[in-house]
Amino acid sequence: MFSRNIYVSRRQKLIKDVSEGILLFLGNGEAPSNYGDNQYIFRQDSTWLYFFGIDQPDMAAVIDVESGEETIFGDNVDIDDIIWMGPQPSVASRAEEVGVAKTAPLADLEKVVKAAVAKGRKVHFLPPYRFRNMIWLNSLLGVGFDRMKEEASVEFIKAVVEMRLVKEPCEIGQIDLACNLGYAMHMAATKLMKPGMLEQDLVGVMEGVVISGGYMTSFPTILSQNGETLHNHSHHQILTEGRLTVIDAGAEIASHYCSDFTRTLPCSGRFTQQQKEIYTIVSEGNNLALGLARPGISYRDVHLAVCRLMLQGLKNLGLVKGDVDEALAAGAAGLFMPHGLGHNMGLDVHDMENLGENYVGYDETVTRSTQLGLGSLRMARVLKPGNVVTDEPGIYFIPALIDKWKAEGTCRDFIAFDKLDAYRSFGGIRIEDDLLITESGARLLGSKRLPRTVEEVENAMAEE
Ligand code: GLY
Ligand code: MN
Repeated sequence: MFSRNIYVSRRQKLIKDVSEGILLFLGNGEAPSNYGDNQYIFRQDSTWLYFFGIDQPDMAAVIDVESGEETIFGDNVDIDDIIWMGPQPSVASRAEEVGVAKTAPLADLEKVVKAAVAKGRKVHFLPPYRFRNMIWLNSLLGVGFDRMKEEASVEFIKAVVEMRLVKEPCEIGQIDLACNLGYAMHMAATKLMKPGMLEQDLVGVMEGVVISGGYMTSFPTILSQNGETLHNHSHHQILTEGRLTVIDAGAEIASHYCSDFTRTLPCSGRFTQQQKEIYTIVSEGNNLALGLARPGISYRDVHLAVCRLMLQGLKNLGLVKGDVDEALAAGAAGLFMPHGLGHNMGLDVHDMENLGENYVGYDETVTRSTQLGLGSLRMARVLKPGNVVTDEPGIYFIPALIDKWKAEGTCRDFIAFDKLDAYRSFGGIRIEDDLLITESGARLLGSKRLPRTVEEVENAMAEE
């Protein structure tokens, strides 16, 4: 938790950005996995953590925008709780740590919300993503389950997004720490990988590193020789000489700040010539984004510049043909990279995606494309100092997508479909770093960059 002043000043800023009414914050509760007392590891809501810091289940808060009055709602533990959980700080003392003077039992929330509604005041709420909070919101405000996204307060969402998009120095310090733990996870796999192991062996080692050094992974680990499947969560294969393995994994530390890195390793420790050629294009694309990202450029333009570089590299190998700018405009890059260059990262690995991807990654100056790849870009905005974004280009050979485009003649003037036959079992390559936008450019988050070039990867895998 940060110091009291951080939370106080965030809330003071927030209410200046909302015109009237009350702001309703619902924290998360425990979530049962297979029976009530057997729960998933508790994960507090990130917006709650940002404004109230308290990492405990079953809390809510209301801020009166006009009077500035703030109330935290929660229940103190009773003797039964103490028997199972040990003594716990009171709600009032937890609230005091984040500068909130007024607390009330959770049951009082309904009275407060209903009193505001009765006076015709606007009750601003954020779109819920957990069923428990949907039910809670429905009982507090009567919002239909199918209307919760539409009726969430756009003013509240936008105010939260504008604040959380620009990371404060204390947050950057935490993200650096999360990146250092993410580095350790990846290096553990880099050192251990060898043919004959199971993919799951590496997943276990990496997740052990993060559990002992932090809190949990920032998302379910992606580790697969079938890297052409972008989010491949199956880990049952035996690592095989000559194949590549995509490892996309990150750490979430106890403060809940995240990291997200991807590296693609040759199972045997050495790339084949064909792998080196494609790998080098992706690695140059990743480095180009680091060089281009700076305040004033849109991340959409960085995405497009990286796609252009990759199309040129693929043209040099004979896989793309025609004019590269025309190929880019036609969306030919989507065949090879059907995802965006990156996303915001912070308290969530895809930061604030629960508030709506378009509110986070787009504004009135940038609209979302319908092209495959560019249309999946999660962060397209003009960059500002304090933004934290991932830089994760990739090239994948997805047989079903190649067959579809070939059959439909999509981008037929730009793709040398006959040359792609030699790549049908290639898999995919993705390389991902986490960037902080500074006053003059961008820097890598974390103290050390994971091995990235062909030479760095082969050397790191060869070291004991
Ligand atoms: N690292 C997983 C993702 O960005 O979607
Ligand atoms: Mn990512």
